[in-house]
Amino acid sequence: MSVDTLAGHETRPVYFDPDLRSWVVSDYQSAREVLIGAGWSSDPMSSAAAREALAHIGIDDSPFGRSMLMIDPPDHTRLRDSVRDVFTPGYIEQLHDGVDAIAADTIDPIPADVEFDLMAEIALPLPVAVISEWLAIDVRVAQILMNEAGELVRVLDGVVAPDAALPATAPFAALLSEFLPLASERRNEPGDDLLSLIASDPALSLDEAVVNAILLAIAGHETTASLLGASMIRLLHESAGHRLIDRIDITDPAVIDELLRLDGPAQAVGRAALEPTELQGNRIEAGDRLLVMLAAANRDPDAFDDPDEFRLDRIGAPPHLALGYGRHRCLGAALARLETAIALRRIAFRKPRLVGTPGWRDTAILRAPTHVPVVFTEGARP
Ligand code: HEM
Repeated sequence: MSVDTLAGHETRPVYFDPDLRSWVVSDYQSAREVLIGAGWSSDPMSSAAAREALAHIGIDDSPFGRSMLMIDPPDHTRLRDSVRDVFTPGYIEQLHDGVDAIAADTIDPIPADVEFDLMAEIALPLPVAVISEWLAIDVRVAQILMNEAGELVRVLDGVVAPDAALPATAPFAALLSEFLPLASERRNEPGDDLLSLIASDPALSLDEAVVNAILLAIAGHETTASLLGASMIRLLHESAGHRLIDRIDITDPAVIDELLRLDGPAQAVGRAALEPTELQGNRIEAGDRLLVMLAAANRDPDAFDDPDEFRLDRIGAPPHLALGYGRHRCLGAALARLETAIALRRIAFRKPRLVGTPGWRDTAILRAPTHVPVVFTEGARP
């Protein structure tokens, strides 16, 4: 299965795809309406199609079924409340120097004039180091995290092809066996790390704490790594002798939003209807499944002028949906922005060049480069 699975020839903004057994929602207005609406569930078990797809591969519930990502209020509120206060932009700003130090350790030792893979050397290790340090997990567990995440995110592809979710169960089990004893220890003797904060919250069971910590560990690096890789491909790509990176100010905050709008790694999010609803003249029945196509909504010409163009003057344009919208909006948005801004600045300083053809992973829901061959033409700051 590939991203092409989702790229049909339908022109209607909302339509039912019998192969996917889902409604596909691709225009900006309907996507936003669903994401902020109360009548939609994030629990895959609310749709018959998802229940049957999981049963088909012998699984009772999604591995992330008890995480905030796939749960509805009031449990969603309870789970998100356990970490809400440490993901505010103000709190995250305090992590600036720590993240910058990790970025320097990752990027500065890379020698000039030697080809390297940006995904393997920077895009993945940097956010893994940040979230591992915050969760206070050791290098060995962080390595497992980095190795397993690419397979684990295939669980999300279960919505488009049930068999795709199967290989995700082993990596999930590997991470469970690492996180469960750690969470159990820190429940009794908490430190000042993120895992302790979740594990010692009396409002969460130990199981819930573990699954949500794993969600943070995965969501906390997979997507940021993909965005960094995809961003560098866009910035360094040469067209008619010009490169985007040479004609913009990389420190302009609008850069990250435009990169997210055009290259946001989360292509789609799933929902199920809790009640019969009308959407763009279609009657959606309770229990029907929806795929809200964030990537398509972000290029909807009714919402964004010249939608395929990278433009930093989108004053008055509506917010893009790359980090979601509504109550499940990305918890780690401020951290993702901080890491991306710091990394882009440090990478740009080294005057990078793309020196080969990047590759893309064959996942449908989370788009990510597999490798991005780059050379730095400047040495590190002394
Ligand atoms: C560029 C990087 C990122 C992108 C594109 C991204 C994208 C998203 C999107 C689209 C959602 C909404 C899912 C839905 O509505 O079903 C989401 C939720 C979430 N994200 Fe991110 N994310 C990124 C980085 C991060 C980071 C760094 C963290 C944590 C450290 C994180 C943690 C989460 C969590 C916990 C949720 C679930 C929130 C909830 O259900 O209430 N994400 N993310």
